[in-house]
Amino acid sequence: MRNKVTKAIFPVAGLGTRFLPATKSIPKEIMTLVDRPLIQYAIDEARAAGIKEFIFVTSRGKGALEDYFDHSPQLENELRKKGKDDLLEILKSTNMDSGTIAYMRQHKALGLGHAVWCARRLIGNEPFVVILPDDVIAAEKPCLQQMVEAYEKTGGNMVAAMEVPPEKASSYGVLDVEEDMGSMVSVKGMVEKPAPGTEPSNLAVIGRYILSPHVLKNLNKIKSGAGGEIQLTDAIAQEIGSDRGVYGYRFRGQRFDCGSKSGFLQATVAFGLSRDDLRDDLHDYLTGIMAAERVAQ
Ligand code: UTP
Repeated sequence: MRNKVTKAIFPVAGLGTRFLPATKSIPKEIMTLVDRPLIQYAIDEARAAGIKEFIFVTSRGKGALEDYFDHSPQLENELRKKGKDDLLEILKSTNMDSGTIAYMRQHKALGLGHAVWCARRLIGNEPFVVILPDDVIAAEKPCLQQMVEAYEKTGGNMVAAMEVPPEKASSYGVLDVEEDMGSMVSVKGMVEKPAPGTEPSNLAVIGRYILSPHVLKNLNKIKSGAGGEIQLTDAIAQEIGSDRGVYGYRFRGQRFDCGSKSGFLQATVAFGLSRDDLRDDLHDYLTGIMAAERVAQ
């Protein structure tokens, strides 16, 4: 029987330079989408997919992220005393059980592949998940859950894939497709940030992965790839042709690149509009400013 996937790595050691000056003192993953930090969306998605162990690869200055996962008995008591049961429930839903979270330090930002490699001893010889909290995905069934269900049939290695216009492909890892089976493709090549016009397909890899422990062994051997960083893509690409193979999974849902300012703003609007308590106000405001803009033009 195939191993259940129960461990997830959250690489959060990047510098987040696109959000300076905010990220001078706030980890990007603590930045708030409506009323929850980005990392909470990632944790909720992992839990829905059956993940039991949460491994954060952090770096200097990420203390607020570690504090976020501490229980807050004083605050809980205050809310209880004031009868604010709804807020108490929200707070409790963010609690993590003791012993389920681990923090591993990446001492130098040497790339995503290196960050994942830093967690190798906590993964051991099991398949594992990698979630990039910058990629927030709105979906009826959470993206990782869709992937875990598909992975139960294929095993191997699976990456979340999304169609992108050709002019955007050079910002992503792009799949070279061997066979297209609809929601799933088998992969015969992967290129990290292809030069414009050289992308092998329009299927880009985004921040959800289910990986075989062999990827960690591949990372052991890799020194540096595109951009001088140790790329996770290179280590996954080395799995192509093994008996495990690499699959791309076209998830159902909308992905927001919350590592970019524009993506973050779009996600804020989309998640705001999806909330019963905010929709009407936000909708009126947006319609009002759009109308004013049309008049001004
Ligand atoms: P990004 O490429 O978005 O880099 O990393 P970044 O440092 O977070 O942000 P910018 O580009 O400076 O604004 C993608 C993911 O990989 C992690 C990041 O934390 C983010 O979740 N990462 C990247 C690491 O953990 N370590 C690294 O060395 C690089």
